[in-house]
Amino acid sequence: MSKFIPVCEPFLDGNELKYVTDAVETGWISSAGKYVTEFEKQFASYCDCKYGVAVCNGTVALHLALVALGIGKGDEVIIPTFTMIASAFAVAYTGATPVFVDADKETWNIDVTKIEEKITPRTKAIMPVHIFGLMCDMDAITSIAKKHNLYILEDAAEAHGAEYKGRKAGSFSDMASFSFFANKNITTGEGGMVVTNDETIYNKARYHKNLCFPMDGNRNYTHDEIGFNYRMSNVIAAIGLAQVEKADTYKELRIKNNALYREFLKDIPGISFQPLHPDYLNVSWMNAIVIDPVKFGHTKDELIVHLKANGIDTRLLFNGMHNQKSLIDYGCDCSGQYLISDWLTQNGMYLPSASNLSEEEIKGICEIIAEF
Ligand SMILES: Cc1ncc(COP(=O)(O)O)c(C=O)c1O
Repeated sequence: MSKFIPVCEPFLDGNELKYVTDAVETGWISSAGKYVTEFEKQFASYCDCKYGVAVCNGTVALHLALVALGIGKGDEVIIPTFTMIASAFAVAYTGATPVFVDADKETWNIDVTKIEEKITPRTKAIMPVHIFGLMCDMDAITSIAKKHNLYILEDAAEAHGAEYKGRKAGSFSDMASFSFFANKNITTGEGGMVVTNDETIYNKARYHKNLCFPMDGNRNYTHDEIGFNYRMSNVIAAIGLAQVEKADTYKELRIKNNALYREFLKDIPGISFQPLHPDYLNVSWMNAIVIDPVKFGHTKDELIVHLKANGIDTRLLFNGMHNQKSLIDYGCDCSGQYLISDWLTQNGMYLPSASNLSEEEIKGICEIIAEF
């Protein structure tokens, strides 16, 4: 292909510049400013939630949510092993221990049939991660959480606008966390948000996000608890507001692009996608594929090299949490087998996934794969 195609560039084609310019021209560049509150309001509403708390990235959003739920040292939080490292690190920041569950071969999300065997008296929460924009089986997770009196914190970093049985990601749980990193369907470059319908949890998150300054606005520099400066600036929120205004458009573009990849690659043996199901609206954050090297005739690593030589950027899929030295050293139980997660890591990759990829570009990428 003549032009280099990056794996996922941001798409900023709305009011971003107008709102950022306004923030700069009016001097409202700190976290005090109308764009922060408006972004929180609009994004929470997009998730069918009452409250949003904007923060500086998705990792601290997870940490803040765990703190707001009161999770700390001695507690355990169940997470999928097949996830981005932030899900596990956020648990570790609180002093609690992440406990891993393998992925399900059908959905690539947490295997809900393996959650209960990991529950102990120390378990406080389940953190389902909606991998690549496909929501987890929230009915199953909700009923396990109810039975064992556990919190649910959705790590919805990759799933803006995703749905399960007609309900939005973020609206199922005590709290949910999103990332607005540059490759996300809605982006602020760096940024994150927690959303909730619970006013008490919301207020706790606001309090801890802002160094535990008194919530009544009193600036007497008296702090009753240890807090964090996780504030988002008004300049960043200005980008976020412009993005939320076009959230559905970006979602549709990602879904359309994923459908094109599926169509153009459907006759090539040995390539599979995350399955589709009528109960789930997969917002296709990334166009992830898994290669069966026997049927395809090459490994995914060979395909990555071939695509790179043709100017097409790709990425590996996550390496499971049970394989992370940092987490083994932290004391996580990484024994046992996580066969599906390892299969995804070994055979999976992302194809270019930006919202504004053209049909021609996707077709060109698929032709290069087909020729190979
Ligand atoms: C599942 C998941 N959780 C958390 C994060 C962390 O978000 P951030 O990169 O904004 O800190 C990411 C980021 O990609 C993610 O994919």
